[in-house]
Amino acid sequence: MRLDKYISVSAALTRSESQRTIRAGRVAVNNTLIRDPAMHIRGDECVTLDGNVLSYSEFIYIMLNKPAGYISATEDARPGERVVTELLPPELLRRKPFPVGRLDRDTTGLIIMTNDGASAHRALSPNSHVAKTYRFTCSPPLSKESKAMLERGVDIGEVDSLGRSLLTAPAIVTINSLGSEGEITITEGKFHQIKRMFTAVGSKITSLSRVSFAGIALDESLPAGEWRYLTPEEIEKFTSAGRSKAGM
Ligand code: URA
Repeated sequence: MRLDKYISVSAALTRSESQRTIRAGRVAVNNTLIRDPAMHIRGDECVTLDGNVLSYSEFIYIMLNKPAGYISATEDARPGERVVTELLPPELLRRKPFPVGRLDRDTTGLIIMTNDGASAHRALSPNSHVAKTYRFTCSPPLSKESKAMLERGVDIGEVDSLGRSLLTAPAIVTINSLGSEGEITITEGKFHQIKRMFTAVGSKITSLSRVSFAGIALDESLPAGEWRYLTPEEIEKFTSAGRSKAGM
């Protein structure tokens, strides 16, 4: 790979910014100052920018705490729509991250953003059964029977290829003593799934926030609208999600 590509990916610069940076003598390869943007790099060299060691990664993995009012897309579907990518800085957007799956506009919480299409595809595949946990409030409160129904599976109007009714897959539900709030873990990702599940048992979601995806917990120290890179352990969970049948 060319040195200017390496620098542009690892330091989040455009290719021309990267070339200027190299020509300005700010880049060293194995302790030797290099001014040639076309120099060939194998990938195992020690490359520094202004003395700081860079690490090259083809993909980026981001945790975003989605606020209400944003849609989970990369471009606005309609004029004036706010999209989650607006919450990321321009240098990251150059790497073309997209949201892994969708949260409704009024749903808040954990969204993973990446440009690793294969891992995202695996994590979202219905066959992967990746666990997603949501904190909810609902009205009227859930009875013990409704909770048990949600856990066993409910009819939300889905049918199989022969037109037979399908129940939602088993879920894990915890509720407070009133039944007005709690957490639900599901392994599917149907459109408005949780809202439709609550409707099926005669309740209504009044707030919904995703707190975990594929075993990756939303960082409680991340304010709404803020993002951070996934840690290496979190990247491992994400990229292995579809492979290991993450389940619950
Ligand atoms: N289920 C819903 O109903 N909405 C979401 O945003 C996510 C899961």
